[in-house]
Amino acid sequence: MNELVEAAREIQSEAHVPYSDYPVGAALRTGDGTVYVGCNIENANYSNSLHAEEVAIAEAVKEGHREFDALAVSSARRDGVTPCGMCRQTLAEFCDDDLPVVCDEGTADDGAIETSEYALGELLPNTITEEMLD
Ligand code: THU
Ligand code: ZN
Repeated sequence: MNELVEAAREIQSEAHVPYSDYPVGAALRTGDGTVYVGCNIENANYSNSLHAEEVAIAEAVKEGHREFDALAVSSARRDGVTPCGMCRQTLAEFCDDDLPVVCDEGTADDGAIETSEYALGELLPNTITEEMLD
């Protein structure tokens, strides 16, 4: 998972965050091992801001991917940020409840990446899904 967290850290340099000054990066790994990354892109009207996870999933879906096996999320503050409620629902459209969501808690003195890990279904239980709309 270190590689995925490192990708989420790296893409933060592309974040456009003049309002929050809170860069976020996300890295989403597909079933075939490809990694798609995204960063937050804010807007002067505030409400049009894109979240890192949304950008990463859009990048992957537009390339035809529909299966994912892990997500890493990282903020520049290394504060263990988790996907917000909106992003949890966006992820649930394509990802199973058992998707590992790895959140960046920083780097230990010995250089080890520290994380908190959740399952998507734990972050968003009782999700509305496509099957319910059949
Ligand atoms: N942010 C994300 O990119 N992902 C989340 O799920 C949490 C919040 C961004 C949105 C905004 O640009 C900044 O973090 C502060 O909320
Ligand atoms: Zn979000």
